[in-house]
Amino acid sequence: MTKRVFIRTLGCQMNDRDSEALVGIFLDKGYILTEDINQADVILVNTCSVRKHAEDRAISFLGSIRKVIESRSPKNNSLLPIVGLIGCMARSRGEEIFKKMPHVNLICSSAMLYKVPEYAEKILKGYKERIIDLEDSKREEWFYHSHFRFDKNHAYVVISTGCSNYCSYCVVPYVRGELRLRDPQDIIEEVKRNISLGIKKITLLGQNVNDYHYLYGDNYSGVRIFAGEETKNKNIFSFIDLLKELDKIDGIEEIDFITSHPKNTSRDLFYLMANSEKIKKHLHLPFQSGSDRILKLMNRGYTKEKYISLVEDFKMIVKGTLSTDVIVGFPTETEEDFLHTKDILEKVKFKYAYIFKYSLRQNTEAAKLEDDVSKDEKERRHRILLELQKRLSLSI
Ligand code: 5AD
Ligand code: SF4
Repeated sequence: MTKRVFIRTLGCQMNDRDSEALVGIFLDKGYILTEDINQADVILVNTCSVRKHAEDRAISFLGSIRKVIESRSPKNNSLLPIVGLIGCMARSRGEEIFKKMPHVNLICSSAMLYKVPEYAEKILKGYKERIIDLEDSKREEWFYHSHFRFDKNHAYVVISTGCSNYCSYCVVPYVRGELRLRDPQDIIEEVKRNISLGIKKITLLGQNVNDYHYLYGDNYSGVRIFAGEETKNKNIFSFIDLLKELDKIDGIEEIDFITSHPKNTSRDLFYLMANSEKIKKHLHLPFQSGSDRILKLMNRGYTKEKYISLVEDFKMIVKGTLSTDVIVGFPTETEEDFLHTKDILEKVKFKYAYIFKYSLRQNTEAAKLEDDVSKDEKERRHRILLELQKRLSLSI
């Protein structure tokens, strides 16, 4: 009988694309995608670890699946589905969840997602053990090869996975692994595959797209972060080179990309954005905090002044719109620090801003600092910025 797969995705666009690629592999193997969890043979929860709230949602969803299983015939084990916790939380909470939730029988890290269909089949064929794979390595390229797309008009294309920037609050380098780059040719071919499906809008995905720096003739080994300037070295293929190549492809109407880190977003990128008819004139440029002291503690690599100057250049050269991410209540953040953050929001006038309350993540550098801004104070600062941004958005 045809097997059915159900997937719930929590978190960011990167997870949306990962789920889509994974579903594509299942469909190519003859499975049907179902939205009815009661009918599913394989139930997957693709998780996010960036904030505690996201992890809590995944845990509560996994808990609710137990009831679904209990409502199926308890005597007939063959009717029991595979329940897989996949993505970021595999590495941050996987072992703990394996102990606490016996109905979860598959755990797979973000880097190893391409193996999920193989693991699922193994269990469905009668393998009695639960499977846990927490490896961090480069994904196999064929993970991205299926033609299945959730959206018929717009496609996400991953250019790199993981991150090696180690912002002190951020769990991404630990759960998604080190920065790893896809070969430019593979990216270009995926974009062309999308065009052959009639898709005209492409969003490139990387935790920091400016870190993209493919080294030709050299097996990529480890991390070599760039200053962001367009390179003269012909062996290095930068993010700007990639955009230039994609810009030449017939059939694309719009290209955009997320996310750009201010520390290595270059003026060269702005000139390219200004001169291209296809690259969207919008930049997502998270500043996180307006306080130089907090930015240093966050290991962000820029100051408030440098950020503002970058934004002024963007406005002058690209004449486009901006959006951002902000964290309030980072350890030791004072009212004065907070007012600098508020000041950036007021000065820059973002089209939209995602404002987050600091959430302590295990293993990060910031976890060594006391989470000393009270819950009420975080709430207050969060509310002030939300209200401010709401007013500002209306004026853009
Ligand atoms: N607490 C709160 N917000 C966080 N982000 C990342 N880590 C944390 C954390 N520990 C936010 C940042 C990032 C966005 C994706 O999530 O603003 O840009
Ligand atoms: Fe996290 Fe910083 Fe990497 Fe973004 S650049 S994913 S905030 S470590």
